[in-house]
Amino acid sequence: MLHFRLWDAQDVAVFLSIMLYMCHLAGTISIHSPQRSLIRSVQDNVFFSVNFTCSGIPDIQWTFMSGLVSRMIGSWQPGVYTNITEDYSSRVQAYDNGSMGLLDLRLQDGGFYVFTITDSTGSSKDFSFVLKVNEVLYEDLQYLSVSFLVLACLAGLFMLIMWLLNKTYKKIKASKCIREMPEIDETEL
Ligand SMILES: *[C@@H]1O[C@H](CO)[C@@H](O)[C@H](O)[C@H]1NC(C)=O
Ligand SMILES: *[C@@H]1O[C@H](CO)[C@@H](O)[C@H](O)[C@H]1NC(C)=O
Repeated sequence: MLHFRLWDAQDVAVFLSIMLYMCHLAGTISIHSPQRSLIRSVQDNVFFSVNFTCSGIPDIQWTFMSGLVSRMIGSWQPGVYTNITEDYSSRVQAYDNGSMGLLDLRLQDGGFYVFTITDSTGSSKDFSFVLKVNEVLYEDLQYLSVSFLVLACLAGLFMLIMWLLNKTYKKIKASKCIREMPEIDETEL
């Protein structure tokens, strides 16, 4: 009897812990993203892609951080409201799955982007992205065109020298032939 009761108690404990674990899972917010580190150039657009699961309609918030600067970008509740701060209103696109698009990047946009989600029970979770903004396009193009110009000049100079050498060689050969011709004639005569 005592043996059986002991097992019952253990079964109940296991059952309870499984139930607790499932409740815990149901209340847990999970966030996924295909890419958390992004590199773009000035004037490009960037898309911070996220997807989440949580209970109820969540409150989504995006914050920008760089060094000591922390700036609110915007917050929204899918299908309820969208509130983007004035600085970003023309450049930010808000999506229902929490994703955010940022258009026409500037050098100062480089930094951390923190995605915060708060569910209906009040628990919240953060998820951060790193964005690097490069200003390389113009410098690279300039560098490329200058080196191309230098190479073209060198090639032109090389061809000119070859042509001149060829011409003088032919001239020398021609004058040599003219000088040699009478000598041959003399010996034959
Ligand atoms: C979120 O939604 C956008 C727009 O519908 C989509 O392009 C993006 O892939 C979604 N993100 C994820 C992680 O599913
Ligand atoms: C929108 O966000 C700003 C800045 O965070 C806040 O002051 C304002 O009350 C918000 N408006 C609404 C309608 O939530």
